[in-house]
Amino acid sequence: MFCSRSLTIAALASGLVLLPDLSAPAQASDPVRQVDALEALSGKHPGFRRGQAKGVCAAGYFEGTSEGAALSKASAFAGDRHPVIARFSVGGGNPNASDHSRSARGLALHIDLPDGGQWQMANISAPLYFIARPEHFTPFVEVRTPDPDTGKPDPERLAEFSEAHPETLKQAEWLAEQPIGGSFAGYRYWGVNAFELTASDGQSRFVRWDFKPQDPVTPPDEDTLATLGDDFLADELATRLEEEGTVRFDFYVQLAADDDSLVDATTIWPEEGRERVLAGTLVIESTSPGVGGEGDRMVFNPLVLPDGIAPSDDPVLHARPAAYAVSFGRRAAGD
Ligand code: HEM
Repeated sequence: MFCSRSLTIAALASGLVLLPDLSAPAQASDPVRQVDALEALSGKHPGFRRGQAKGVCAAGYFEGTSEGAALSKASAFAGDRHPVIARFSVGGGNPNASDHSRSARGLALHIDLPDGGQWQMANISAPLYFIARPEHFTPFVEVRTPDPDTGKPDPERLAEFSEAHPETLKQAEWLAEQPIGGSFAGYRYWGVNAFELTASDGQSRFVRWDFKPQDPVTPPDEDTLATLGDDFLADELATRLEEEGTVRFDFYVQLAADDDSLVDATTIWPEEGRERVLAGTLVIESTSPGVGGEGDRMVFNPLVLPDGIAPSDDPVLHARPAAYAVSFGRRAAGD
């Protein structure tokens, strides 16, 4: 709105007739409203991300395989070790969230590639997302935000929205069936959105990717979980790295089958009957405990991709960078 007015004044001053329609409705997917909605749900925590606020930064490297190189000409797969800054996180906008919460965990990566290239991504410990369309993000969050009078979300609004958009319940249903993990190293992390890989011979294929722990970590039983405080994940990762030296994930790309949606992240791509290619390895070597690690100052923008990897048309994927930029702007300003 402010920009439109400034533009109008400047245009009038310069003698141009340029009168934007100030009464036009807000954009369907509005990153400011999305971030405002997250703040209303989780409270405002100055300096922190408005999503996946609690996290720990880490560093290591990514190494591609020849099978990955056959699918994509991206230099990430060329066989060298590429430095990685990573951030593991806990879902939601509360930096004091409990590690016992049943939210999705995050694994975000900045992979530095030759000649200043970069591959950024932010993956979650679920194979699906909670909205199929970016314009559903704000209402999804708003209907879950407690009414100040009752301290609870309005059950009618929640039911009405869920009935109109049943796909928005699927991620929570999936997460409810998973055990609470005792280690960031034990989760599997999915990119969820589809991407297009292009090989050096020009052949393109749509894929979704995931990071699978090389050494499975058995989730703690109820009794063990009960002995853990609210902040065990970051310490566990640091201790594991001290003892074992590295934490390793296999990076798989799964090729889309004809009936796998390229534009709906609330659907799971079944693994049966699909080609899965081991395209690389992520090796985590160190963490930086506490707030202020290198990854804390970064944005993990899933549209920063090397040549050889391109976004699909999934509208949720394309809406992400604007919301991340709004959140980054606020936290970088100490807001
Ligand atoms: C319209 C859809 C989405 C909106 C509005 C949204 C919003 C946000 C915001 C505001 C942040 C904080 C960014 C920052 O301050 O740097 C964030 C972080 C994050 N989001 Fe999303 N998000 C969306 C879709 C997704 C999807 C589909 C995934 C699943 C892969 C995802 C995974 C993550 C992760 C892992 C982080 C933490 C990244 C980090 O550690 O910096 N988001 N999201």
